[in-house]
Amino acid sequence: MKRVLLSTSGGDCPGLNAVIRGVVKRAAQEGDWEVLGSIQAYNGILWEPTEIKVLDEAAVAGIHYRGGTIIETTNKGGPFAWPIFNKHTGEWEYVDRSDEMIRKLQLMGVDAVISIGGDGSQRLSQQLFEKGLDIIGVPKTIDNDLSATDFTFGFQTAVQIATDAVDKLVTTAASHNRTFILEVMGRDTGWIALHAAIAGGADVCLIPEIPYDIDKVVEKLKTRYKRGNRGSAIIVVAEGAKPVDGSVHFEAATEVGYENKRLGGVAYELSQQIKAAGFEPDLRETVLGHIQRGGVPIAYDRVLATQFGVKAFEYVLEGKFGHMVSYRHPDIVAVPLTEAVGKMNFVGEDSDIMLTARGTGISFGD
Ligand code: F6P
Repeated sequence: MKRVLLSTSGGDCPGLNAVIRGVVKRAAQEGDWEVLGSIQAYNGILWEPTEIKVLDEAAVAGIHYRGGTIIETTNKGGPFAWPIFNKHTGEWEYVDRSDEMIRKLQLMGVDAVISIGGDGSQRLSQQLFEKGLDIIGVPKTIDNDLSATDFTFGFQTAVQIATDAVDKLVTTAASHNRTFILEVMGRDTGWIALHAAIAGGADVCLIPEIPYDIDKVVEKLKTRYKRGNRGSAIIVVAEGAKPVDGSVHFEAATEVGYENKRLGGVAYELSQQIKAAGFEPDLRETVLGHIQRGGVPIAYDRVLATQFGVKAFEYVLEGKFGHMVSYRHPDIVAVPLTEAVGKMNFVGEDSDIMLTARGTGISFGD
């Protein structure tokens, strides 16, 4: 029996379970492969005792429409930076356990690993590949910020959820003659904000790629009001947006082994800035947060995720290790991990999608 081990790492994302099911279903057709899942990314291998789950067809039955991941995930630590508390110094230290992990995988009879994760996870995949591990990457993120693939699964679900939020805010904004600020995720890119702004018919969209001038934002908002402050407006702001003369709003991470900057809360700052710039109508803020990555994936993401899962297993059969599955419309292709990591997919200022947004009168505060 040959064995392939799956890991899901980083923030969860609608469609992860559909990838897992795709791998298991395709592997079952071969007859001589067992699929294992490491619980909580690579922690399941590194913990003593190990936590590994056998993923057969019964284990994945009906999971394609379930949000989250049945094998859990984490965006902290990892084999190259395993946190250990030093009682003497009272500080956390980070040790490299990657060689030990590869040895454990060999002892478990694992022939290949499929790592489902975002940019940080695929960086680890490349490092593990360089150490001799036979590994295939599957890109995952609601942010759609990986340049090596046209789309990542989970993104369209996040856009749908954000658009539903805009639709709901439009009616309450109109009833109260208010301006609503909807803050969405996306880290350093504005894909979710841009798509939700177009789909929801927002007036202003603020994204990290285009630092905003608050006076331009207020200028646009005022066009949405008549005398007596009668009117309403919708702003969609990406969590990583910043003013021309300011910086991104983030909080210091307090969780052990968490390396990302915690974004979130720009909506409240923006609200203050708009008021300070002389805007009179009522303002309200909604921070959508993790709702964007919870719940069922929409059909598009289930299909893309299933395609990624089936193809990832086929790359294992073909021995295409050191590659990441990627969507290049209309094909699913293999991209070397070295080319796949570290290159962000930013919203292009002159891209068609931006021209579409500007063509419908959306202001980017520039
Ligand atoms: O990368 C996906 C993402 O959801 C970002 O949009 C967001 O900034 C971040 O993860 C939040 O991460 P956490 O789960 O650590 O709060």
